[in-house]
Amino acid sequence: MNPRQIVIHPKEFQKELLDELKYQGAKVLNSTSSAFWIEQDRFEPAWADCVWRDVKSLEFDSISDAQKKLRSIAPRWRYHGDILNRRGALIAERLISKKKREPFLFPGLFPQASDPAFTLADTNLILYSHAISRPTIDGFIPFQENREVPPSRAYLKLWEALTILGDWPKPGELVVDLGSSPGSWTWALAELKAQVLSLDRADLSEELMRHPQVEFKRGDAFSLKPTQMDWVFSDVICFPEKLLEYVQTWIDSGFCQRFVCNIKLTGEADPGVIEKFQKLPHSRVLHLLNGKHELTWICHPKL
Ligand SMILES: C[S@@+](CC[C@H](N)C(=O)[O-])C[C@H]1O[C@@H](n2cnc3c(N)ncnc32)[C@H](O)[C@@H]1O
Repeated sequence: MNPRQIVIHPKEFQKELLDELKYQGAKVLNSTSSAFWIEQDRFEPAWADCVWRDVKSLEFDSISDAQKKLRSIAPRWRYHGDILNRRGALIAERLISKKKREPFLFPGLFPQASDPAFTLADTNLILYSHAISRPTIDGFIPFQENREVPPSRAYLKLWEALTILGDWPKPGELVVDLGSSPGSWTWALAELKAQVLSLDRADLSEELMRHPQVEFKRGDAFSLKPTQMDWVFSDVICFPEKLLEYVQTWIDSGFCQRFVCNIKLTGEADPGVIEKFQKLPHSRVLHLLNGKHELTWICHPKL
């Protein structure tokens, strides 16, 4: 039986992903070196590097036949090398962009993010999908980093989340950054010309404390009551249940529709808590390649 969904798994968090898929009732048909093939098509597992939905199959006789058939579906493809990688790579040769992965300048829409993707299931069988959950199949976005100004590399998590979402704060928008010290997220938000309210128990870096786009408040992030805000960001280290309770007050208030909040996990990840975030309206929970043992809840009207 062919899968309806392909879940590309992260090297580090295969166990978490498998636990989550089992918890959600997914039937795993096959486990390859980099992916799980799922019988049903209704999961968005948080721990996946990338999820292919509405997976279709295509039989072919030869490499040129495969190329012809794929080209009749779409002019450009992404290829995921897994089973029979050498044969798949030969098929892919004429269909994928030859360009080296250029460093990607945030913010922007990632090129090729809307190209369909294929992989080989057998010598004469292709699996493909037009519904790919990430801008790149392995989840890696080659950001052009700023190694001089931001106080740490934590801003890469924020860039990754916003690039996957395909939206980010616009100049003049009011945003709050909770648990902001030393200030990489605040820096990234100020770079977007947003007005940043930045809260932490500890100070930001000296430059950010003086930044004209940034208002810093020292204290408990959770003491901030919901108020009119274009975006809420949180990287506070706290129990997931605490974060869930707090963001629920924002959702109930109706003051903000856009959230990017890190869910910090200690020890075993509880799929039940992850599911509660997933079930919030307009929500998606992701594992970011720039994150460690944590997940990111994104809430946005477009989801
Ligand atoms: C992972 S760090 C944040 C890094 C930050 N996003 C950056 O880019 O530089 C987590 C922060 O949460 C802060 N924090 C933890 N509990 C907090 C609370 N209840 N209120 C305010 N800040 C808190 C810590 O002081 C710490 O600076």
